[in-house]
Amino acid sequence: MNNFDFYNPTKILFGKGRIADLNDQIPTDAKVLVLYGGGSAERTGVLAQVREALAGRTLIEFGGIEPNPRFATALKAVDLVAEKSITFLLAVGGGSVIDATKFIAAASKYDGDAWDILTSRGSVVTNALPFGTVLTLPATASEMNSGAVITNSEKGAKLPFGSPHCFPAFSMLDPEVTYTLPDRQIANGVADPFVHVIEQYLTYPVNAPIQDGFAETLMRTLIDLGPKALASPKDYDIRANLMWTATLALNGLIGAGVPQDWSSHMIGHEITALNDTDHARTLAVVLPSLMNDQRGPKRVKLLQYAANVWDIRDGSDDERIDAAIAATRRFFEELGIKTRLNDYDVDASGIDHIVGALKDHGMTALGEHGDITPDDARRILEAA
Ligand code: NZQ
Ligand code: ZN
Repeated sequence: MNNFDFYNPTKILFGKGRIADLNDQIPTDAKVLVLYGGGSAERTGVLAQVREALAGRTLIEFGGIEPNPRFATALKAVDLVAEKSITFLLAVGGGSVIDATKFIAAASKYDGDAWDILTSRGSVVTNALPFGTVLTLPATASEMNSGAVITNSEKGAKLPFGSPHCFPAFSMLDPEVTYTLPDRQIANGVADPFVHVIEQYLTYPVNAPIQDGFAETLMRTLIDLGPKALASPKDYDIRANLMWTATLALNGLIGAGVPQDWSSHMIGHEITALNDTDHARTLAVVLPSLMNDQRGPKRVKLLQYAANVWDIRDGSDDERIDAAIAATRRFFEELGIKTRLNDYDVDASGIDHIVGALKDHGMTALGEHGDITPDDARRILEAA
């Protein structure tokens, strides 16, 4: 196992009715800005629960954060923070609202051009406003990590950043608020954490049986519960287990001390920047093709994945790897997620654009060995 630092200060408040405990988590003298998305939190009554829990406080609200949150929208919230002397942010939503809140928290304390936060991947961040989250869509684990992804439509860029100053102080995880999610978002919320686990697992062995075993359990749980969550939308135990699985998939624990390969994510982000395809769907397109393309360097872990996640034990090495890739693709398709690039209207000129964008954004040395180049990404996309 490699050397590592593990740091995660986020407090989780999990279970039915937990939003009622919100008041105790926020300093009594805080001036709070509540941030939310395009209206689902209002429609589903989650915002009403938040307002009730915080009754008696002066709350300022900022809605309209888009899926794949936009830089320009976040900057409007940064202005509001300054204008109203806000001291605490509360994100109510999914990964997009939480990611935007992280960026707003950092940009509110940054003196230079806020775009630097993204081009530096977060290294310029030395401080951030404190914030908490009320999670309404389990998928990204943004509720328990320090990363975020922001889209700048004018620049055609979707860029990640992270900072130890951007962990949520707390996150409220009430599985009942997920009952209102449409099937498409439930499916996304199964596929995205599955690929988060894969990107921290499917590299090469470093004798880390805890991380590997934990990762395999998370994947088997997603394979088991994903279809059940779609079939039984109001089953509390299924939703509760799915919610916790998504959080654990990217809160740093399974990635500590092991090599990682975020190439499916970085290539996928460029597909979303091109045509706004849902994040999880871009991953379902890139991952099976990348697994096939990288079967040499990833051979040992691919065989371990076949055996321990899919129970594929018969046949030659290549036959078992083929079967594991086919099972992965079938899993996404059975969730209702298409896995071919042409399902998302990306043609040859779209691939040219994505490859150019990877170069422009410095994504030229991806993978656990830093040897997946934009030319390799082109081959992976052409086969996808
Ligand atoms: O905008 P509203 O009206 O609120 O509707 C949202 C949105 O349209 C809706 N929704 C959320 N909770 C709901 C609900 N509808 C009904 N009932 C509820 N309880 O769902 C739609 C999608 O929401 P969004 O937040 O965009 O989805 P998700 O959580 O999948 O977040 C995706 C974003 O997170 C980034 C992605 O790139 C993408 O921008 N990621 C962030 C990561 C991180 N911070 O660690 C890691 C991920 O790999 C990912 O890159
Ligand atoms: Zn993701």
